[in-house]
Amino acid sequence: MNANDIKKVAVLGAGLMGSGIAQVCAQAGINVVMRDIKDEFLEKGMKGIKDGLGKVVSKGKMTQEDASAIVNRIETTTDLAKAVSEADLVIEAIPEEMKLKKEVYKEVSKNVQEHAIIASNTSTLSVSEMAASVKKPENFVGLHFFNPAPVMKLLEIVRGKRTSEETVQFAKALANRLGKTPVVSIDSPGFIANRVALPLMIEAVTALEEGVATKEDIDTAMKLGYNHPMGPLELADLVGLDTILHSVKGVGDKLKSPRWKPPKLLEQMVKEGKLGRKTKKGFYDYP
Ligand SMILES: NC(=O)c1ccc[n+]([C@@H]2O[C@H](COP(=O)([O-])OP(=O)(O)OC[C@H]3O[C@@H](n4cnc5c(N)ncnc54)[C@H](O)[C@@H]3O)[C@@H](O)[C@H]2O)c1
Repeated sequence: MNANDIKKVAVLGAGLMGSGIAQVCAQAGINVVMRDIKDEFLEKGMKGIKDGLGKVVSKGKMTQEDASAIVNRIETTTDLAKAVSEADLVIEAIPEEMKLKKEVYKEVSKNVQEHAIIASNTSTLSVSEMAASVKKPENFVGLHFFNPAPVMKLLEIVRGKRTSEETVQFAKALANRLGKTPVVSIDSPGFIANRVALPLMIEAVTALEEGVATKEDIDTAMKLGYNHPMGPLELADLVGLDTILHSVKGVGDKLKSPRWKPPKLLEQMVKEGKLGRKTKKGFYDYP
């Protein structure tokens, strides 16, 4: 399968990532079917896409005509078989639960075309384990988009144990077609970006907890000392402290490294519902 020959992409999940990925594909001129389990979730996903494009139009970076054409390229359905039956590529972006994902892959596999590539947007789960649920594991690959998908340039391609070289090449060409820069990782916990970024955030929280410095000084040290565009605590607030805790536990359990122990402060903040920007309170306040 050549990435330039893709006629239709099925995106499973219309949440934060699914709706963003659907937009990215439609912006590249590809027809998309977005599937979720309820109409209200599909409506919410489409509203997010329209609002996001509306902002781009109001900044003068896109015409209203182009924005409407992107929206018109996306159809929605709650019917899984209908969503995947004509797709050349299926990108799954449903919740991060292995059991749920495997159940969905079994259904996808029954209804998908022979040549179709199946991809997961998982952040922390094993691509090889998911691939075992599909008929053609050689056509299965991790396509890890970053949030917000229409903005972030990186596409982390994850090569499962049985992913073919052809599928990896397809994924690289797809990244280029979507205007993203690909990097390739083997199927190792946290892949590349989370493996490197999460320990930095854990260490920043631990330093704060131990009273090494104020939150502002920790962030300033990393911004001015290492040219990071954001400090690690600001970044943690942006990603969401619940997401970080979940990822640290998930990756840490697999790596079995003491460095990956979640700091008490992080656990306490999540318990208190201080999840970062999305709850308006994290390490910083967002009134
Ligand atoms: N949030 C992030 O920053 C981020 C970044 C990269 C990757 N990811 C990964 O992307 C995936 C989705 O994360 P999200 O943040 O978009 O979650 P989300 O909760 O915003 O969206 C998940 C959507 O999937 C839907 N869903 C549940 N079961 C379904 C099914 N069987 N078929 C179709 N849709 C179904 C839900 O109704 C929901 O709308 C996860 O694997 C996550 O690890 C998330």
